[in-house]
Amino acid sequence: MKGKIYGIGVGPGDPELLTIKAYRILKHVDVLCIPKSKAEKDSLALSIVAGALNREFEVMELLFPMTHDKEVLERHWDVAADKMADKAREGKILAFITIGDPMFYSTYSYILERVKKNHSDLEIETVPGVTAFAACSSFINEPLTEGDEKLAVIPAAYGISAIREALENYDNVVLMKVNRKYDEVVMLLKDMDLLDKAVYISRCGYDDQYYTSDIEGLIGKDKDYMSVMIIRKAGWKSL
Ligand SMILES: C[S@@+](CC[C@H](N)C(=O)[O-])C[C@H]1O[C@@H](n2cnc3c(N)ncnc32)[C@H](O)[C@@H]1O
Repeated sequence: MKGKIYGIGVGPGDPELLTIKAYRILKHVDVLCIPKSKAEKDSLALSIVAGALNREFEVMELLFPMTHDKEVLERHWDVAADKMADKAREGKILAFITIGDPMFYSTYSYILERVKKNHSDLEIETVPGVTAFAACSSFINEPLTEGDEKLAVIPAAYGISAIREALENYDNVVLMKVNRKYDEVVMLLKDMDLLDKAVYISRCGYDDQYYTSDIEGLIGKDKDYMSVMIIRKAGWKSL
């Protein structure tokens, strides 16, 4: 009998944000598939699962380099999907775990596409997770959107012009992957007179979670990849 593949969102960091559904499935899976970049020593997704479930797993590490080179990436997505499919055909139940939600800026979507296309005999099911920006907004106890406000979510790593455009056209803006472009973003916010409308949040849900509204104070300092900036043009209620 064939097995099955799950794509499971494990939430942004706090193991208590794992859904009951994810927890139930993870209790029974045979193989945990863990996406890793070379730079990553330990998998954060695995640390979340380990914080919620007290069990051993057979682990399949899948390497995805941190590069924008489409050809290199596609090769790794193909290899990973094939490896997972082979295991599922042995009758195993697999779970590809991913930070936050699996359909939101996650490598999982590329795996899903390949399994659907190249391994259509296999069943694949996706389990949503709490996305990081939702958890970040709860962490600072401030709403992301109210009433008729419009929200834009921008992956900041891909350039500053999309950020300016979003800030001009939306009420509130979430900047994902903000670490590398941080200083440029601060210059832009200064230019648009929005410095006091921004909050930086890192490692939400981990022991060292952190936030600050002193945006300029972090210029030139190391920033974690697991960080977002939220800009609320109407201003914060109580920060
Ligand atoms: C590849 S995306 C993954 C997004 C994820 N699938 C989600 O639903 O939030 C990685 C980015 O998510 C954000 N992120 C993920 N976990 C976070 C956390 N615990 N605290 C702050 N930002 C986080 C950061 O902006 C990071 O650069």
